[in-house]
Amino acid sequence: MSRPSRRAVLSLVGGGTVLAATGGAAAFALTRTPHAALAPWDAAGTYADPRMRALSFGLLAPNPHNRQPWTAELVGDDGIVLRRDPARDLPVTDPFARQLTIGMGCFVELCRMAAAADGHATATDLFPEGEDGPVAVLRLAPGGTPDPLFAHVMDRRSHKEAFEDRAVTLDAAAPLAGLGRLHLDGPVRDELRALAADAWVAEITTPEALRESTDLLRIGRAEIEANPDGIDLGGPMMEGLALAGILTREAAGDIDNPTTRAVMERDEAVLRAAPALVSVATRGNDRLAQMEAGRRWMRLNLAATGAGLALRPVSQALQEYDAVAPMRAAVHDLVAAEGETVQMLGLLGYGARTPRTPRWPLETRMVDGRA
Ligand SMILES: Cc1cc2nc3c(=O)[nH]c(=O)nc-3n(C[C@H](O)[C@H](O)[C@H](O)COP(=O)(O)O)c2cc1C
Repeated sequence: MSRPSRRAVLSLVGGGTVLAATGGAAAFALTRTPHAALAPWDAAGTYADPRMRALSFGLLAPNPHNRQPWTAELVGDDGIVLRRDPARDLPVTDPFARQLTIGMGCFVELCRMAAAADGHATATDLFPEGEDGPVAVLRLAPGGTPDPLFAHVMDRRSHKEAFEDRAVTLDAAAPLAGLGRLHLDGPVRDELRALAADAWVAEITTPEALRESTDLLRIGRAEIEANPDGIDLGGPMMEGLALAGILTREAAGDIDNPTTRAVMERDEAVLRAAPALVSVATRGNDRLAQMEAGRRWMRLNLAATGAGLALRPVSQALQEYDAVAPMRAAVHDLVAAEGETVQMLGLLGYGARTPRTPRWPLETRMVDGRA
């Protein structure tokens, strides 16, 4: 499951009426923005220590269900030890932490780019103590080559809205070409998006998988501020629906609830009609390959932003549990060469910009190794 577009929810339940009933929609809107949960976007780059500056951008990286599983420790004068917090695992939909590791790869790449923009080169040692130890040890030294893609860091999103009915041409997608495989039209595109949609339906009709998402719903400002992660349903409209008792965790987890079913059907339709797709595959599927996939996804997401394209990851058909196994196999038959693992699949098109998603402040992700 992913965050439903606000527009879809509203058009289904008549949000205008609900808002009117709560009284003073505009005034209400002003009070409902989760400012603290979004503050880390504005805090990026404002720290004195160059490592903290790099980390403050790193935490803006895309990551599954916005779990933000990272912790960081400063070591010596120039080092960062980066770990993945297993308390933030997604055992049903990501049983091998493959996707969470991809998110860590996104984080490392964004840190590296931020440091380079800031005049520092990053030496990266991945899994220096093996798979169960730190994900990476980074060392910063003066130098580094600024990367033009970093210019898009503040505008990058994982797209969650509908797509315009507009094809993606090869020219328009050219900046993405070296970073992923483009599926812009034709039978492979058609089959891929059908598989993505089938897997999405399989996920929402697998109770333990759906539950993993609904447990992570943050409904309304108070919940988002208390836990600035997971699937955030914020803003005055969502909050109005919550106040009216229409949007509840229980309703969202019940696919027989008419509103929930209608929202899900809308989302399924978005997948089935996606204008284009892009995939990222690696040779092999060990932790290093997963980190590499994350680094490439990060660059792809920034390149898409720079090209004016909206990119939405759709991971259900790549996941490793029984209900989606047939789709996973079919996706591999379709787009993977022998020995390759498809690590990421994304829908590509044009659409209204998705709002920023919440983040935990950097200070809350720092651990002190001496403690
Ligand atoms: C490995 C990985 C898998 C993801 N899978 C999905 C997905 O299946 N559906 C989706 O809507 N978003 C997916 N996302 C996007 C996250 O939901 C998103 O990164 C997170 O909510 C933070 O939002 P942002 O990327 O806009 O900053 C995925 C991201 C990563 C890194």
